[in-house]
Order: sequence, then C-alpha cells, then structure tokens
Amino acid sequence: MANIISILNPKGGSGKTTLSIHLARALHNSRHKVLLVDTDKQGSARDWNEAGEGTGGFPVVGLDRPTLDKDVSSLAENYGWIIVDGAAKLEKMIASAVKAADLVLIPVQPSPLDIWACDSLVEMIQARQHVTDGIPAAAFVVSRAKKGTVLAREVCDAITAYGFPILHGAVHDRTIFARSMTDGSTAIDDEPNGSASFEINHLLKQIMEAFQ
Ligand SMILES: Nc1ncnc2c1ncn2[C@@H]1O[C@H](COP(=O)(O)OP(=O)(O)O)[C@@H](O)[C@H]1O
Ligand SMILES: [Mg+2]
Repeated sequence: MANIISILNPKGGSGKTTLSIHLARALHNSRHKVLLVDTDKQGSARDWNEAGEGTGGFPVVGLDRPTLDKDVSSLAENYGWIIVDGAAKLEKMIASAVKAADLVLIPVQPSPLDIWACDSLVEMIQARQHVTDGIPAAAFVVSRAKKGTVLAREVCDAITAYGFPILHGAVHDRTIFARSMTDGSTAIDDEPNGSASFEINHLLKQIMEAFQ
C-alpha cells in the first residue's frame, strides 16, 4: 500500500506544485513506484508532465473532485508512494486531500502573514487527527526562503504555535526550480549535484524516516 503525502496550503504560490514534482522525481530516482496526483483545476503538474512529454518516469493524473480520498485509496495498492499536489482555496478538495493522506506537508513562505494564512488548514488537520488517532501526521516545510537568511524568531514562533514540526532545511528560492520546470524537467535532473537537488533529497530523507 502506498504512503500517501498531501502537499497542501490554501495560498497559491507557496510552492506546492514545485515541491510535489521534485519529491515525486526524487522518489522515482530512488526506484520507488510513484504516482503524482494533480488536484488543482489549473493543472500545473499536468502541464509540467505535458511539457516534458510524459518522460518524468511516473504517471501524473488529475483528480479535481472531492471524491479524491476514495479515488486515491483505490489506487494505493498499485504504488509505493502517492504525492497529492494540493489545490488553492477549495475547502472541500483540501478536506478530501487531508482525509487521503498519511502525511500532510505544508510548504510555507517564511513570513508570519503566510503562516497565519494556514490557520484553517491546521484546524482541519487537527480535527481529522482527533477522530483518527493522529492520522495524518503533519509538518511544515519552509519554502521559497531567501538564500543566506536565517529564519526570523517571529516566523519560528508562529510555526511552533501550531504544534506541527518543521522539517529541517528548506526549499530556498532558486531560479533553477522555476527554470527547470518550464521545460518539463526538474532541478534534480538539470543540476543533480546542485544545492536545489541537495535540499530536496535532504527533505526526502526526513520524510522517509517518518514512514519507518
Ligand atoms: N523554491 C523556489 N524557487 C524559485 N521559484 C519557485 C520556488 N518554488 C516555487 N517557485 C515558483 O513560484 C511560483 C509558484 O510556485 P508553485 O509551486 O506553482 O506554487 P503553488 O503550487 O503553491 O501555487 C511558480 O512560478 C514557481 O516556479
Ligand atoms: Mg500548484
């Protein structure tokens, strides 16, 4: 049965699709059987797959109705990992992606305003955990952080107040992330020994440990 990770943040532009595609690609490169589920009607992950002419090595499918949790669980036995790339704003879709998940990752830009915007998502996850013995687990991932800056105290405090851990390291704001994706590639393919690739693999290591 697949380990299911939903990458969620109601705020558009927080880096959900970028993180989803890169984690899926890193898992694929480690010889895992991966499915990437695009739940956003805009279909950015599907556009990425199309731009690369489907050569990413794993299927990318669109499921953009709130039956997502049932649809994903019916696919779970065919994969080792399912990454669910979250939609913006649509409450029902996000609720369904929370229900589907073993782990929710919340990519968040390191500003208190962006963190506070996660309020309703955090409440939704906690409500779900309450009735399911703590499933899904949840963690923040600092996303699009400016290079060379340390996390401001108020950012750490705002995240810590929610009671979910923050994964160690961050996805920094790097042009390679954006540039590689426009032609259906990833930073991992374009610069396998680069810092962006290192960051993704460092996050993936922690995620895999969480499932052990
Ligand atoms: N770490 C990053 N470094 C540079 N650009 C990024 C990074 N993460 C996301 N972006 C860019 O920011 C925009 C929004 O990112 P995206 O992953 O689509 O966010 P979301 O799916 O949350 O809306 C895209 O143009 C993407 O290329
Ligand atoms: Mg997106």
